[in-house]
Amino acid sequence: MSKKLFIETLGCAMNVRDSEHMIAELNASEGYELTTDAREADLIMINTCSVREKPVHKLFSELGVFNRLKKEGAKIGVCGCTASHLGKEIIKKAPFVNFVLGARNVSKIADIVHKDKAVEIDIDYDESQFAFKDFRSSGHKAYINISIGCDKQCTFCIVPKTRGDEISIPSDLIVSEAAKAAENGVKEIFLLGQNVNNYGRRFSGEHEKVNFTELLRRVSVVEGVERIRFTSPHPLHMDDEFIEEFAKNPKICKSMHMPLQSGSTEILKAMKRGYTKEWFLNRVEKLRSMVPDVSISTDIIVAFPGESDEDFEHTMDVVRKVRFEQVFSFKYSPRPLTEAEAFTNVVDSEVGSERLSTLQAYHDSILDDLKVVNLGKIVEVYFEELRSDGYVAGRSDNNIMIKAKGSEEWLGKIANVKITEVSRMVQYGEILA
Ligand code: SAH
Ligand code: F3S
Repeated sequence: MSKKLFIETLGCAMNVRDSEHMIAELNASEGYELTTDAREADLIMINTCSVREKPVHKLFSELGVFNRLKKEGAKIGVCGCTASHLGKEIIKKAPFVNFVLGARNVSKIADIVHKDKAVEIDIDYDESQFAFKDFRSSGHKAYINISIGCDKQCTFCIVPKTRGDEISIPSDLIVSEAAKAAENGVKEIFLLGQNVNNYGRRFSGEHEKVNFTELLRRVSVVEGVERIRFTSPHPLHMDDEFIEEFAKNPKICKSMHMPLQSGSTEILKAMKRGYTKEWFLNRVEKLRSMVPDVSISTDIIVAFPGESDEDFEHTMDVVRKVRFEQVFSFKYSPRPLTEAEAFTNVVDSEVGSERLSTLQAYHDSILDDLKVVNLGKIVEVYFEELRSDGYVAGRSDNNIMIKAKGSEEWLGKIANVKITEVSRMVQYGEILA
């Protein structure tokens, strides 16, 4: 009987891809098969996120639960960003954990699984050219890493300390991975990095210097690739050349993530984001003027140390001006190993919660307006999922989640859909043959 692997993945899309890589390696070397039931697993892994404090706290209670329900002799591994920053402390606090594998060491999974109380968290480890075995959880969309680590030092962010310095993956490897996915019937390529439009600044070894705009061109001409998405770009590196390619390349989906973080230039400076409120608005204007139906999503942190009412009002001002289609908003959470952890001008937690609700309530009202605008529109949807309620689901080019009555014959197909019913998060439509 084959060995069973249960893996829980938290956090960002890069973690999802790291989990796919580990599943592939464990399958190829040990024959592990995935299970969704932790009780029957021979190996239980949690791929953790440490960007905010809450999931880190949750980790230890969850480990306790897994330890109680696991079957006799099953192993438990902790990987991802929290593994990187807590390292052997995890085994100290939860001695039943068999191994700890950092976010930049996932290629060592087939090795560490045989060890006990092992900790591999080297953030200088270079796996930018590791040839991972193949595994994808979706047959329709392919995540492809284009870089590892992050060279920015945003003062709130722990990621550079858990994923290390930025190294770009050579463009020929990315293009051949896209080609392989397309040959297997995948139509949508999702390029991943912590700062994708910084691509090409540093490779390990000698490689052709290709920037992100050129990489997009090369992936878009791969036979069989019909859609390209990417995350996350950095507003600072959104130069004209990049926005123009985004606008004119028909393969690039017209949804852009533009993580604002704050609308106050003063706070942006304290965050070391490298741009001003005016630059951000200028980039949105350029983008909207070239791609009128682009949908823009963002990340916003409220109550960063030193954020005054006036600073927060600048954030609200940007939110009102841009009318983002999607907002991921967070209350600032101090993180170890970051510069901002030492900042003493903290904002009262209740003030932070109030600001978060103000922002979210305003955004909800925008969503209510936007959904009405969508009613009756015809959009192209790539169907990726069969739902149990007789619907197929997929995303429009500009990233609206659409559900339509239909069966599996629509999976992997792109079809025109007329939107007939709207809500904030999901819209319903009819497939036009
Ligand atoms: N460049 C990365 C950022 C990863 S962190 C990417 O988007 O892929 C994702 C988001 O979490 C950030 O954009 C930020 O809005 C939020 N975040 C990061 N550190 C935070 C902190 N200390 N407190 C609250 N939110 C944080
Ligand atoms: Fe974090 Fe800033 Fe990089 S948010 S991942 S340090 S671009």
